[in-house]
Amino acid sequence: MTADLATAPLLEVAGLHVWFELPGGRELHAVQDVALTLEAGQRVGLVGESGSGKTTTALTIMGLLPSSAAAAGRVAVRGEDLMPGLENGFRSHRWTDIAMVFQGAMNAFNPVRTVGWQIAEPMIAHGTATGSAAKARVAELLELVGIPAAAATRYPHEFSGGMRQRAAIAMALACEPKILLADEPTTALDVMVQAQILDLLTRLCGDLGLALLLVTHDLGVVAQTCDDVAVMYAGEIVERGRIDALFHDAEHPYTRALFAATPDLYGDEPVASIPGSPPDLARPVVGCAYRPRCPLAFAPCVDVRPVLAPVSATTATPPGTQPLTEPLTEPSTEPARHLVACHAASSARAT
Ligand SMILES: Nc1ncnc2c1ncn2[C@@H]1O[C@H](COP(=O)(O)OP(=O)(O)OP(=O)(O)O)[C@@H](O)[C@H]1O
Ligand SMILES: [Mg+2]
Repeated sequence: MTADLATAPLLEVAGLHVWFELPGGRELHAVQDVALTLEAGQRVGLVGESGSGKTTTALTIMGLLPSSAAAAGRVAVRGEDLMPGLENGFRSHRWTDIAMVFQGAMNAFNPVRTVGWQIAEPMIAHGTATGSAAKARVAELLELVGIPAAAATRYPHEFSGGMRQRAAIAMALACEPKILLADEPTTALDVMVQAQILDLLTRLCGDLGLALLLVTHDLGVVAQTCDDVAVMYAGEIVERGRIDALFHDAEHPYTRALFAATPDLYGDEPVASIPGSPPDLARPVVGCAYRPRCPLAFAPCVDVRPVLAPVSATTATPPGTQPLTEPLTEPSTEPARHLVACHAASSARAT
């Protein structure tokens, strides 16, 4: 392995564009210029309203887009770009390196097969275990997600929603992936069970060194689980950073509106819904996609698309301008941690 590959991020998504061919020759641009990285043990939330492109991003990383979709950009595991080889590139990494708990997975079990049989299936398909070894691994996986091993012989309808979601996570972990994409893993679960599933995901990242991309429309879920968050709006990442930084100092008006629309855990805070609706992604979006809903919109937002930029000079130190308080360190080559794509935010900083 070359030095570059050894130091490359575990997962790197860069310049990702995904579009769907619609009847009549139109195109729907679901994901635009998305960039993300994930390292072992890191928990990143991908959050946004319905239709913002979260599932499409995750399915692209799995190489499981429908045939009506096309994608461009980079999806790399430890520096190996999976996109050029398309199907072949993804197939060799799917489930063994990158696994996904699909949106609605806990309701997608085959009702006439036992849970244990269904967890064993991907192992048998990938040849990672067969026969008694597969059975032993199913028992181990069930215990790992907090289900007694004896429950392997039960059918999905005998499980509660929370247990089915645990089983769906066990199934995704069957081939010992390094990266887990979990798409809305707690939607439709009550608050207590939701917290247990989020604790489980956090524990798995710590114990197994799993990198987690947690896809959700709920910032509260991200706040309970993740270190970092990327906020998607109309197919683009509009703000990215540490969850605590965004919680205290969200720069994008959409992120602030999302926080305002997130009920607190005890439900005693008023919840403000975000007025208006996202743009039709089958029509070209000129300028900022959030402009029609934005309380801060001004002239540049009409025709100039904002791009992600560092929030403050301290997070992205240009070479040669290292502060004197750290005289012995090299200029930072670390990517900026807090980024925002908003003309109003950058204009406020400039004044
Ligand atoms: N197979 C498809 N064909 C055409 N358009 C699609 C297809 N799948 C998704 N889209 C469109 O792509 C956009 C992004 O959808 P996606 O499912 O990724 O959003 P999401 O953020 O996961 O939403 P949700 O929170 O509802 O799950 C939407 O406009 C959606 O209608
Ligand atoms: Mg989705």
